[in-house]
Amino acid sequence: MARFALDSAAVDRLVAELDALGTLGVEERAHGDGACLLAYFTRGQVERARLFALERTVTSLRCLGVEPVPETDWERESRRGLSPRCIGGLWVRPSWCAPVAEPELVIDPRQAFGSGEHASTRLALRLTLAELRPGDSLLDVGTGSGILGLAALRRGAGSALGVDVDPVACRNANQNRAGNALPLGLVCGTPDSLRPGWLWDMVVANLLWSELRPIFGRLRGHARRALIVSGLLASQAAELEHACAVSGWRCARELSEEQSGDVWVARSLYPRDRQSSRSSSSVSSRA
Ligand SMILES: C[S@@+](CC[C@H](N)C(=O)[O-])C[C@H]1O[C@@H](n2cnc3c(N)ncnc32)[C@H](O)[C@@H]1O
Repeated sequence: MARFALDSAAVDRLVAELDALGTLGVEERAHGDGACLLAYFTRGQVERARLFALERTVTSLRCLGVEPVPETDWERESRRGLSPRCIGGLWVRPSWCAPVAEPELVIDPRQAFGSGEHASTRLALRLTLAELRPGDSLLDVGTGSGILGLAALRRGAGSALGVDVDPVACRNANQNRAGNALPLGLVCGTPDSLRPGWLWDMVVANLLWSELRPIFGRLRGHARRALIVSGLLASQAAELEHACAVSGWRCARELSEEQSGDVWVARSLYPRDRQSSRSSSSVSSRA
């Protein structure tokens, strides 16, 4: 690992140089008025002299040293703290934990989001399972580990399609699909890759509001009965309210959960013209 100090304005140039040398990754840290960059390489990949020589090509750069990094077992690190959880009546566990009870889903999240350890996943899962009817079709936007689509299939959905813009997430969802032997469809892309007019009984989207807002209107054209949104902070609820008014949704049910000082919110939305025997309800809990 090589350590550099430089002016913030020169960071992009240094990153480009490090990319050209084939760095495994770069970490940026604050360093007084400027920046400190740590660049990782496999042992022996680049000569020390070439790293020090970057001082001649990048303005303000000082190479502070090249040092070995202790080996880390990333697989073991990512396993720390994960344990079986019962969410909405479904047991979710990583493969290295023993089964607790049925029904269950085995999810190894690796580098993708969606282990059940985050409140936004738990809220989305609870609402999805509460809204699901036998044989439903489901679209899971931002599928991550595939947890929501796979859970719906485990609990009686007729079909489920997961969409994610991140190839790492798609690979992980694929592994979890195989591990559970469930027929989750997968598309690596955004909802823009879905043909307009394709309809699912339910659409679930656990995305940050900044990611959901640009595609929120488009989801209206894909959801026949319900849209479940999660990943919002309570402070963003008013913005969602406004987006619902514009796109023709009404809130049927809201769940919230506090985690590490943030209050996360999820909502089931129905088309405004859909009649419902259930009135709107709201439940909150703490992690
Ligand atoms: C918060 S994670 C949710 C993962 C999982 N569904 C869950 O509930 O735990 C959000 C996922 O959405 C993906 N994503 C973000 N914006 C997207 C978009 N516009 N279209 C598709 N996927 C998107 C990210 O790559 C990430 O995997």
